[in-house]
Amino acid sequence: MDKPFSLACENNRGPILEILQPLLADKLSVLEIGSGTGQHAVWFAKHLPKLRWQTSDLQHNHVGINQWLDAYPSPNLLPPVELDMLGDNWPKADFDCIYSANTAHIMPWEAVVNMLAHVGLTLPSNGHFCLYGPMQYQGVIEPQSNRNFDASLRQQASHMGIREFHKINQLAAEAGLVLLDDHAMPANNRLLIWQKV
Ligand SMILES: C[S@@+](CC[C@H](N)C(=O)[O-])C[C@H]1O[C@@H](n2cnc3c(N)ncnc32)[C@H](O)[C@@H]1O
Repeated sequence: MDKPFSLACENNRGPILEILQPLLADKLSVLEIGSGTGQHAVWFAKHLPKLRWQTSDLQHNHVGINQWLDAYPSPNLLPPVELDMLGDNWPKADFDCIYSANTAHIMPWEAVVNMLAHVGLTLPSNGHFCLYGPMQYQGVIEPQSNRNFDASLRQQASHMGIREFHKINQLAAEAGLVLLDDHAMPANNRLLIWQKV
């Protein structure tokens, strides 16, 4: 069986790494929420060898993630744990960074709420949460391609859709996180970085 493949991951991994590399240089352990294919995990683990990278996702994605981990093994790369933001199986290990890409518009809003709450409870003081993906600001989605994307998501499933930055940032504030940066990224995405107080 071929490995699952995401062209978007191949395109965005370089620009994301460029921004995260200095931030992650001193970190020990990252939890990735919604690893998807596993492409980001193998890329980041290779370029950040001192960092332990814990993959996670819903169970049905584990076979594909493991295929990528088998193809690009790395001692700092851990096989996926089952992690559903609608469930209560948050991993027990310590993490000083949590990373998630292209998940907030896919999981239900209730799951986004749980994700921010868990992130706040898990991160130590000065830990970071990095969230990548498209965002809307004050109810406005730009440009047209993102509006089309949002419409196609909502058509596929009513629980999906591009999220409002201010609502996520409000959840983050309630979880004890302070926004450090909101980076504009290629293909009309954002890379949001919060720090736990
Ligand atoms: C568009 S994919 C993004 C995958 C990968 N991070 C990337 O950037 O290509 C969305 C991911 O969110 C995950 N996801 C959806 N609902 C979730 C939930 N309730 N809890 C955790 N992950 C969820 C999916 O399984 C999938 O891996």
